[in-house]
Amino acid sequence: MINEDEIIRYYGRRRGKALRPDRQSAYDEITPWARIALPEDGSMIDPRTLFDFPVKEVWLEIGFGNGEQLIHQATHNPDIGMIGCEPFMNGVAGLCRDMRDHKLRNIRIWQDDVRLLMPRLTEKSISRLFLLNSDPWPKTRHHRRRVVQTENLDAFHRLLKPGAEFRLSSDVPSLNAWQLEKTFLHPGFEWLANCAADWRTRPADMLGTRYQAKGLVQGRETMFFNFKAR
Ligand SMILES: C[S@@+](CC[C@H](N)C(=O)[O-])C[C@H]1O[C@@H](n2cnc3c(N)ncnc32)[C@H](O)[C@@H]1O
Repeated sequence: MINEDEIIRYYGRRRGKALRPDRQSAYDEITPWARIALPEDGSMIDPRTLFDFPVKEVWLEIGFGNGEQLIHQATHNPDIGMIGCEPFMNGVAGLCRDMRDHKLRNIRIWQDDVRLLMPRLTEKSISRLFLLNSDPWPKTRHHRRRVVQTENLDAFHRLLKPGAEFRLSSDVPSLNAWQLEKTFLHPGFEWLANCAADWRTRPADMLGTRYQAKGLVQGRETMFFNFKAR
């Protein structure tokens, strides 16, 4: 079992400024039913059972930030159960506000490090995985804090159904090179790109992000890597 005290911290802060009243009230209203709690007896969770209606598939987003992509996907895919992981309280509260505004019932929230959740989910239970604009940790001594590490790729592979999509994006060149190399070399994943347009073009079902916009202004192109789980 992974213990929070034993793992290297990947994310920055857990809390930012005091929550605005609309975010606080949405957090108080949404989290009692949408926040995932691990069974105390150590048993595994079949992710489909987290939802109060039968879902066609379950998709997972790691580090959803303020939740723009998660809300977008949940709105356009009402028959899919979405799990979003994010330890940053203010981001979770922003997601809750949008869930309330859009009356979304198909999102469940893991308000912590994804590595504490993954071992408790049943094998081959996730049909799509998103890791978008992950923290780049640019200094060499911090590279071990990047989410894409061989042991995490092993954990993703355990969770993903064969043929499931693993989508990564970033506007940071050194992170793109790292993520591409590590995932490409992992035997559990196959890169789906055939030509440069495949990694230079934002997938049609994805929103543009402030990272993409900022990157463009600063001369950096966002890249989109789509892998398939073997
Ligand atoms: C740079 S932000 C990007 C947020 C969002 N994906 C976007 O594109 O706007 C990276 C996010 O990943 C979260 N994060 C980092 N490590 C994580 C982990 N191990 N589990 C879950 N979330 C994590 C951070 O808290 C942060 O909000």
